[in-house]
Amino acid sequence: MGALFFLTILYVSIILNFSLAQDENQFIFNGFHGSNLLQLDGVAKIHSNGLLQLTNTSKQQMGHAFYKIPISFNSSNSSASITFPSFSINFVFAIVPELPNLSGGGMAFTISPSMGFNQAVASQYLGLFNISNNGINANHVLAIELDTIQNPEFKDIDDNHVGIDVNGLSSLESAPATYFSSEEGKNIRLKLINGVPMQLWIDYDAPHKKLNVTLAPATSKKPKQPLLSTAIDLSQVLLENMYVGFSASTGPTASEHYVLGWSFNRSGQAQDLEISKLPKLPRQRKRSELQSKMIVILPLAATVVVVLIMVIAAFCFIRRKKYKEVREDWEKEYGPIRFSYKNLYKATNGFKEVELLGAGGFGKVYRGKLPNSHVEIAVKRVSHDSKQGMRQFVAEISSMGRVRHRNLVQLLGYCRRRGELLLVYDYMPNGSLDKFLFSNEKPNLNWSQRFRILRGVASALLYLHEEWEQVILHRDIKASNVLLDADLNGRLGDFGLARLYDHGTNPQTTHVVGTLGYLAPELTKTGKATTSTDVFAFGAFLLEVACGRRPIDLKGQPEELILVDWVMELWRRGAILDASDPKLEGDFLAEEMELVLKLGLLCSHSMPEMRPNMRQVVQYLDGYDSFPEMQADLVMSSSSSLGKFSVDSLSTNESILPSGR
Ligand SMILES: *[C@@H]1O[C@H](CO)[C@@H](O)[C@H](O)[C@H]1NC(C)=O
Ligand SMILES: *[C@@H]1O[C@H](CO)[C@@H](O)[C@H](O)[C@H]1NC(C)=O
Ligand SMILES: *[C@@H]1O[C@H](CO)[C@@H](O)[C@H](O)[C@H]1NC(C)=O
Ligand SMILES: *[C@@H]1O[C@H](CO)[C@@H](O)[C@H](O)[C@H]1NC(C)=O
Ligand SMILES: *[C@@H]1O[C@H](CO)[C@@H](O)[C@H](O)[C@H]1NC(C)=O
Ligand SMILES: *[C@@H]1O[C@H](CO)[C@@H](O)[C@H](O)[C@H]1NC(C)=O
Ligand SMILES: *[C@@H]1O[C@H](CO)[C@@H](O)[C@H](O)[C@H]1NC(C)=O
Repeated sequence: MGALFFLTILYVSIILNFSLAQDENQFIFNGFHGSNLLQLDGVAKIHSNGLLQLTNTSKQQMGHAFYKIPISFNSSNSSASITFPSFSINFVFAIVPELPNLSGGGMAFTISPSMGFNQAVASQYLGLFNISNNGINANHVLAIELDTIQNPEFKDIDDNHVGIDVNGLSSLESAPATYFSSEEGKNIRLKLINGVPMQLWIDYDAPHKKLNVTLAPATSKKPKQPLLSTAIDLSQVLLENMYVGFSASTGPTASEHYVLGWSFNRSGQAQDLEISKLPKLPRQRKRSELQSKMIVILPLAATVVVVLIMVIAAFCFIRRKKYKEVREDWEKEYGPIRFSYKNLYKATNGFKEVELLGAGGFGKVYRGKLPNSHVEIAVKRVSHDSKQGMRQFVAEISSMGRVRHRNLVQLLGYCRRRGELLLVYDYMPNGSLDKFLFSNEKPNLNWSQRFRILRGVASALLYLHEEWEQVILHRDIKASNVLLDADLNGRLGDFGLARLYDHGTNPQTTHVVGTLGYLAPELTKTGKATTSTDVFAFGAFLLEVACGRRPIDLKGQPEELILVDWVMELWRRGAILDASDPKLEGDFLAEEMELVLKLGLLCSHSMPEMRPNMRQVVQYLDGYDSFPEMQADLVMSSSSSLGKFSVDSLSTNESILPSGR
């Protein structure tokens, strides 16, 4: 009898558990152990311990995890008792950046009419939207974003905020990540990317049309005051059948985004998660294993330690000299992206020659692998003596570190030593574009690869000129400054670096920075760089890629010496396609080739006002604006300005740098 009773209870509780999990209006996941109720895509996966990982540290990726069963929000069925429900959600998440203090991407809890996000874009679009559907009412999407990047185009308030997004990424309301502590009676700041689990509550009160969002460390109770409390009528946003879940993305830098537990209730207060039962994060797990081993090893270690300390003290004394850096108090403001010289030294095997990737106008570049994270980097050593202007320059580096675009080589940080500056960049496995164009050691690029590179670089330049919060001039655009990533996407490098010479020791002299053949005529006269001198250089670059020749080719026939003139002459003769790179063997789309060549000539116009701006260039290349019909004679050549240089005394691929350095 007793056994039967027990079995019945067991049976009933199994049924109940089952129905609870299946009930579309409420569910709770204390970890996602083998859950088949989530639909995953992108790089998202569920670990064997039940941890849901939305993204790993791969760049420009996204990951989604949605509850498979649609949930009815705005019932059109008038006989149903509820039309628009109140709802309540809480979840525990953690964001673990690849490099400490350097954020990448972000994540969002999302309510959406569909689970298909394959048209969405990673990075700042959080895997939810793309440039054309961002902000459109037809999206019917509510997202609560946990954003760790400040994107000026979406008017983000900082790089560590929680925001309420309706149909797009410009938040309706947002606030820096903090929580209200009753014990201390004040708001306490939280850092989203500190890798520690945190909990978020989202509560909607339908009768009062009020949406509350509350954040706290996972170990704290729900704070009494919400972080955000916004008046909003969600019945005007959400449709009848909606999917609930998470989206996360990584950009040029990456973070791992995790969800540890999740509870949802459409008809009451969401149950609290059992924090102690939630799966552990990979790194925390490692640490606790380590701790248990430590207890065994500790007594033994104690004796060894004493001896070691003496040895290390002596060792440190010697090492301190080797790894000596220059640090000043004011640099703390820019703290996050400062690397230690020691790590860079180790990463590059002590700046060994075998790690040398190249030597450009600004200094030598080494390949390296960061000791702990094994992230591949490129380190540029720039000699720089001046103290003057250093502060401003470092402020600029810090702002450059925030400039992110898929066609720019990401600056990760810097380090300063006496007499030199080390700049740390993303490592680009395929090296620079000029090696592909002008040397036989690399494979030939076909036309569609080249065209994609041109469009990419153009969009990066547009971003620097018009879309970033301030205008950034590149000032040294050329094939050797365009690097190729693993997928052969073009990425513009060295942006903003030319400014280094503006903060040099001798502010009286105007330095002309750039490379012969890419210098606009007015630049050589006035020394003043503008967006249109960048466009000029971009024009030379377009021709370079299409023709497979350098702007000034000392090796070729005399009439082919100046590339612009030669292409212009071919155009006059009605044979512009003869300018195309012989290595392409005629395998290209004639309209595209013609567009690139003519656009190259137009950008190389000697009068700045005749050149298009980068937005127009991008539109021409994207084929949105059909390129104006032009006559060769109208597009005047700029050769007169090039003629002024005594060409044979200059090597053609060296940056012109201030003398005396
Ligand atoms: C991230 O996940 C994807 C898909 O599972 C995998 O191909 C990639 O190698 C992973 N990246 C890292 C850095 O682990
Ligand atoms: C409307 O709701 C009622 C009661 O919940 C239900 O019986 C009926 O089938 C629903 N009608 C439709 C069209 O969904
Ligand atoms: C991260 O930044 C914080 C404050 O900005 C600083 O206290 C901490 O030491 C930094 N951590 C690392 C690993 O650089
Ligand atoms: C943006 O996404 C929408 C739908 O998700 C799609 O129709 C559109 O083609 C996408 N646009 C771009 C530029 O990818
Ligand atoms: C939202 O927050 C306000 C202010 O603290 C509170 O009065 C209200 O009850 C909260 N509503 C919900 C649904 O949590
Ligand atoms: C939700 O339902 C209400 C009432 O039926 C209706 O006025 C509103 O347009 C609906 N919202 C959406 C987004 O369909
Ligand atoms: C949902 O709310 C109801 C009513 O408050 C409660 O009985 C139930 O346990 C909740 N379920 C979950 C999964 O939070």
